[in-house]
Amino acid sequence: MHKTHAHDGAPGAISHARSYELFSAIAFAGRRRRIFGRLVELAEVGAGDVVLDVGCGPGYLTALAARAATPNGRALGVDVSEPMIAQAQRLRAGANCAFEVGAAQGLSAADATFDVVLSSLAIHHITEEARATAFAEMFRVLRPGGRVLIADFLPPEGPLARHLVGSTAGRTMRDNPVERIAPMLGDAGFDVRATTQVSWFLHCVRADKPGGDE
Ligand SMILES: C[S@@+](CC[C@H](N)C(=O)[O-])C[C@H]1O[C@@H](n2cnc3c(N)ncnc32)[C@H](O)[C@@H]1O
Repeated sequence: MHKTHAHDGAPGAISHARSYELFSAIAFAGRRRRIFGRLVELAEVGAGDVVLDVGCGPGYLTALAARAATPNGRALGVDVSEPMIAQAQRLRAGANCAFEVGAAQGLSAADATFDVVLSSLAIHHITEEARATAFAEMFRVLRPGGRVLIADFLPPEGPLARHLVGSTAGRTMRDNPVERIAPMLGDAGFDVRATTQVSWFLHCVRADKPGGDE
C-alpha cells in the first residue's frame, strides 16, 4: 500500500472510503456497471491501452477500464485521499490494475505516458483555481492522439430537486458549472469531440489531444 500521507486533508479529498463505496453502489440503483461501462466505451478504451483514472475513489471505473484494456493494457487510478486508495487496493487492484495517492493538479507520471485519461465525479471536488492546472496535467501525461473523458455531476434543473441536492450534497454540487468543462479542456489544448449526457446526473465531455496517427 502507498504510505505517503502528503495529501491527507487536501481540499476535495473524500476520506470515508467504505461508506462512499456503499453509497456509490446504492446511488447508481443497479446501473453502476452500465453507466461506468458507457464511460469506458465513450473513451474507446481497448486492448493494449494504458489508462489513467483521475480521482478514482474506490476504483470501480479504473477496474472496468483495466478489463477493457486487456490484453496488454493496464489502468492506474489516482486519488488524493489515502483511505480511498487503500479501499481501491483492497477491492480492485489486480495484475493490470493499480492505484496510487496523487493529486490531479500535480500528477507524478511522465509526459505522454497514457493513451486514455478518465475522470468521473471528481472535477467538482477540485477547487476552481486548481481545475485548469488539472486539465493541463491530463494533457501533459497523455500521448499525442490520446483521449480524455471527463464525467461530472449535472445538477438538476427543477427547484425542488435543486433544493434537495443543495441541502444534502451542498452548493458545490447544486451549482456545479459542468458547461465550463468543454471550454476549459479546449483552453488546455484538447480538441473537444463530443458532449454527452449519460443518465440524468452525468455530463460527459470527450476530447482528444492533437497529434498521433489519426
Ligand atoms: C465523488 S468521488 C468519485 C470517485 C469515483 N471516480 C467515482 O466515480 O465513483 C471524488 C473523488 O475525487 C477525489 N479527489 C478530490 N480532489 C482530488 C484531487 N485534487 N486530485 C485527485 N483526486 C481528488 C476524492 O478524494 C474522491 O475520491
